[in-house]
Amino acid sequence: MDNRAIGIFDSGVGGLTVAKELIRCLPNEDIVYFGDTARVPYGTKSKQTIIRFSVENVLLLLRYNVKVIVVACNTSSSVALTKLRENFKVPIMDVISPGVSDAVSATGNNRIGIIGTSATVKSKAYQRQILKRLPCARVFSRGCPLFVPLVEEGWLTGRITSEIIGYHLMDLKKNRIDTLILGCTHYPLLRSGISKFMGKEVRLIDSAVSTARSVKRFLHEGGLTSGRPSAGRLSFLVSDEPAQFKSIGGKFLGRGLIKVRKASYGV
Ligand code: DGL
Repeated sequence: MDNRAIGIFDSGVGGLTVAKELIRCLPNEDIVYFGDTARVPYGTKSKQTIIRFSVENVLLLLRYNVKVIVVACNTSSSVALTKLRENFKVPIMDVISPGVSDAVSATGNNRIGIIGTSATVKSKAYQRQILKRLPCARVFSRGCPLFVPLVEEGWLTGRITSEIIGYHLMDLKKNRIDTLILGCTHYPLLRSGISKFMGKEVRLIDSAVSTARSVKRFLHEGGLTSGRPSAGRLSFLVSDEPAQFKSIGGKFLGRGLIKVRKASYGV
């Protein structure tokens, strides 16, 4: 048993899709969420910058005595994971490998698509892991830079959103994939539009769901689950004014946020 909290960070509000699944899978766990709202987006930044921000986020979460850190951001997971694991003793879990496992099990024709931010696609992290597990796979990646702002503006459905989804996914549709990884924290909120465009025969892999399952397995196998019988405490920290995070966070989390505090780096 280990009653310390699970730490989780993202570039901003998007990682709440991962927090939501964690809360569903592990309702008794305390969770400390950090959203780096002062420096979002990460998806357009350089590798060095993303690594630096990710290291600072881990240092911040360690001040809360967390037992594991979940890198909810696909961009950080793609670019900074190796550095983080080399530099910190705390177990660090990512969102890429769980999504890849599910995609590799799901595909029938070995043609897998990935959508994510420009930095995620450029890193080829998903592609490398898929090919390691399934060398005969054909992997098709596409950056979808307009999806994050669409979601953050609350444009989850409607004609313009459908057109933007179609524009970004047109090529992937031609690639005859049967599995598509939603490789960005924000994309689960566009799931219905993406599914409608790609068609029922394309299975969508939500890395938030895959990650929560893998964190649960990790805690159980390591004897690290909380012994508390009551619901876990949730803390939300941000690096900029909490107001915007509060106003859209509920959509990502699927329920109201209780309290959001501004954290200072102090590193
Ligand atoms: N959280 C980021 C991701 O999952 C998307 C937003 C950003 O670009 O920072 O890649």
